[in-house]
Amino acid sequence: MCGIVGGIAERNITEILIEGLKRLEYRGYDSAGVAVINQGQLLRERQVGKVINLADAVAAHHLQGNLGIAHTRWATHGKPSEQNAHPHASGNVAVVHNGIIENYQELKQELQQLGYVFSSQTDTEVVAHLVNHALKQTPDLLQAVQSIVPRLKGAYALGIVWTEQPDELIAVREGSPLVIGVGIGENFISSDQLALLPVTNRFIYLEEGDIVRLKRNSIEIFVNGQAIDRPVKELDAAVTNSSKGEYKHFMLKEIFEQPDAVQQTIAQALDADTLKPDFLAKANQTFAAIQQIQIIACGTSYHAGMVAKYWCEQIIGLPCHVEIASEYRYRHPVIVANTLFLCISQSGETADSLAALRDIQRRAKQKHIPIHTMAICNVSTSSMIRETDFHLLTLAGPEIGVASTKAFTTQLAALMLLVLKIGEIKQTLAESLKQDIIKALWHCPKVLNETLKNDTEILRLSSLFVEKQHCLFLGRGTHFPIALEGALKLKEISYIHAEGYAAGELKHGPLALVDNDMPVVILAPKDEMLDKLKSNMEEVQTRGGELFVFADEHSDIHAQDRKHVVHIPQVSEWLAPIIYCVPVQLLSYHVAVLRGTDVDQPRNLAKSVTVE
Ligand code: G6P
Repeated sequence: MCGIVGGIAERNITEILIEGLKRLEYRGYDSAGVAVINQGQLLRERQVGKVINLADAVAAHHLQGNLGIAHTRWATHGKPSEQNAHPHASGNVAVVHNGIIENYQELKQELQQLGYVFSSQTDTEVVAHLVNHALKQTPDLLQAVQSIVPRLKGAYALGIVWTEQPDELIAVREGSPLVIGVGIGENFISSDQLALLPVTNRFIYLEEGDIVRLKRNSIEIFVNGQAIDRPVKELDAAVTNSSKGEYKHFMLKEIFEQPDAVQQTIAQALDADTLKPDFLAKANQTFAAIQQIQIIACGTSYHAGMVAKYWCEQIIGLPCHVEIASEYRYRHPVIVANTLFLCISQSGETADSLAALRDIQRRAKQKHIPIHTMAICNVSTSSMIRETDFHLLTLAGPEIGVASTKAFTTQLAALMLLVLKIGEIKQTLAESLKQDIIKALWHCPKVLNETLKNDTEILRLSSLFVEKQHCLFLGRGTHFPIALEGALKLKEISYIHAEGYAAGELKHGPLALVDNDMPVVILAPKDEMLDKLKSNMEEVQTRGGELFVFADEHSDIHAQDRKHVVHIPQVSEWLAPIIYCVPVQLLSYHVAVLRGTDVDQPRNLAKSVTVE
């Protein structure tokens, strides 16, 4: 979603801001802008399209200054246009904003009655006018911002500057991510630390309700008007590595990083043939007490949760429910005592997932219902990790491509570790099965590497999808979620309409779509459902559908006319979903590249959806 960068320094800041925006490009955006203060003047530049357009305009107009704010916008209120791009200004105040001001209509009417003229259709512009208006009564930027913040409803992060105080930047965090980058004689803000890595590796992670006054040599944080301290954290080098290296796209790099990412994730929990005694040890008592798990997540993370439901119920017999956060948060679900609420999220900042978590916590507290919360998350500094009782990190490293890949496989690995851990604590996991799964987990990176060797074969097949309009993905059991994930990958980056189905549902609708022009992708690991899946394949072939089968090398499925088969190395049936998502990721990637789409930043999508 949209991104903020801002800073104050002795040196010219525009290049830092532009570089920061480039690093936020992965979040998805449609326009970009920057405002700086230079010798008492507010200078602004805004452009529709890529940050490079903005960079060219900034260079052409020699925009320079020591204090500035910059923004990539992902349109919510008002179409992508220069007028709607941030920063928004009112008088000598400029504002960048991430999130949504829900009561902006009401505030807008009030401001219009006071004579303020709106030049955009955005919700953000009300903030600029409100601050400008407040400064007429209170000529101090911090106080003015503090006075208007209680009037804003919604979720937002703000960066605000005023020409009359050219030595300070005011920032606000309320429901949308914002971090401070701590420099030497210079300080910065951003919605993602990645944007600031060229200038610092020291960060302060703001909390909800924080208002900050940033100067070159000081950082003051206020909560309800009271100054407070927040710790400065130093990032290690691994987190800071985010270049494409030899790969053409981040997505491809991230697909090929999966063996290492999974290895890292499992190594934190496993000794040779057992779980490390200190793995999630803090949660031992909780795991002994829980009666069920409720998973809440969005997008790809939701698909990981769906796989975990099969694992949890089949392997350790613990009831497990999974729901999309945007539904869960609004349907007032019954909160059952001794439930482990498990949020799965790559970013840990997804608005719906966080809102669902907070709603559960609030309602459980109100009704005195004992519950427990946990996050499986890829960002150790995220809101989700801070706000849950326990967490398990996926050690995937930064994921930049909007289409999630290595975050997904590491989420699956982490979920299996969690299932093993809970089974061990509850003594519902047979020792021999536990040993088998641990062995298979250690083997997983090797199988992933072998599976990646199918890349050339999959590239060849992908050319057969380029002209297609639609595609079906079918799987059974734990591979039903992988079919959903495959369809999601294909649609989000190649823009081909794709649907994932549980293969058993074929006859209940999607079979009507199957004809000569409908590619059908089948996920066929060797498990107890394989014979049933073979019947589904027959049904497709009989109707003239073209099959693309990812099948276990020992599954006795062979290529025929209009039946393409890619053999996948044999793997334990428990871990097959971790392996079978790789070919669908590669297929989607190659189809998208052949169709010439923007693979890492697909149109209309964002990496971290921090608005509802
Ligand atoms: C967006 C991203 C997806 C991601 C989903 C959930 O839609 O484009 O890749 O799966 O958000 O994000 P999270 O960070 O909570 O996993």
